[in-house]
Amino acid sequence: MFAVSVVVMAFIVWLWWHALRHNPTELDRAGEDRLRDRWILAGGIALPTVSIVVLLAFGIPSGHRMLPLPDEERAVLRIDVQAHRWYWRVSYPDYGIELIDEIHIPVDTPVDFHIGSADVIHGFWVPRLGGKIDAIPGRINVLRLEASQPGEYGGLCAEFCGSGHAHMAFGLIAHGAEGFASWLTAQGATESVMKDEAGDE
Ligand code: CUA
Repeated sequence: MFAVSVVVMAFIVWLWWHALRHNPTELDRAGEDRLRDRWILAGGIALPTVSIVVLLAFGIPSGHRMLPLPDEERAVLRIDVQAHRWYWRVSYPDYGIELIDEIHIPVDTPVDFHIGSADVIHGFWVPRLGGKIDAIPGRINVLRLEASQPGEYGGLCAEFCGSGHAHMAFGLIAHGAEGFASWLTAQGATESVMKDEAGDE
């Protein structure tokens, strides 16, 4: 975005410079009309048409990838996220894992986040992975995200929700396939140990 905006800025400055130096008295009336029509056609019709077509060509497929559509080739991981003032409760319904303000996902796997809220409207957003979606009380919104690189991705609340809003950040950690499996085992082991202890009593 920065690179493109620099190119656009340079072009606008060049146009401005060109306009300052241009001497309209060199043209007759008909010449001025022709020049004006050319600017309207090129800058008012051709430029926006081309820009919008290019934007849509990139935007529609990437928007499509964020929809929770059935994936026939790959398993989709489901993670439930419940927003609270002012934290995120994260649960893995298939694994019985619960976390606060922390999300672990495997790379190269589509993850469907089922997002709701316990109180007011919040906004779930991991900027480096995709768009944001509102967390609305009494409703579940589903957002599909996928990380292609292992690492830590910052997440935040993108909807003003009261005095703790600015502190409603969370961490999303993307693991390689093996790393995620061992993370699950570690979490699962803790759970079964807890259950065993409860059973012994
Ligand atoms: Cu939650 Cu802002």
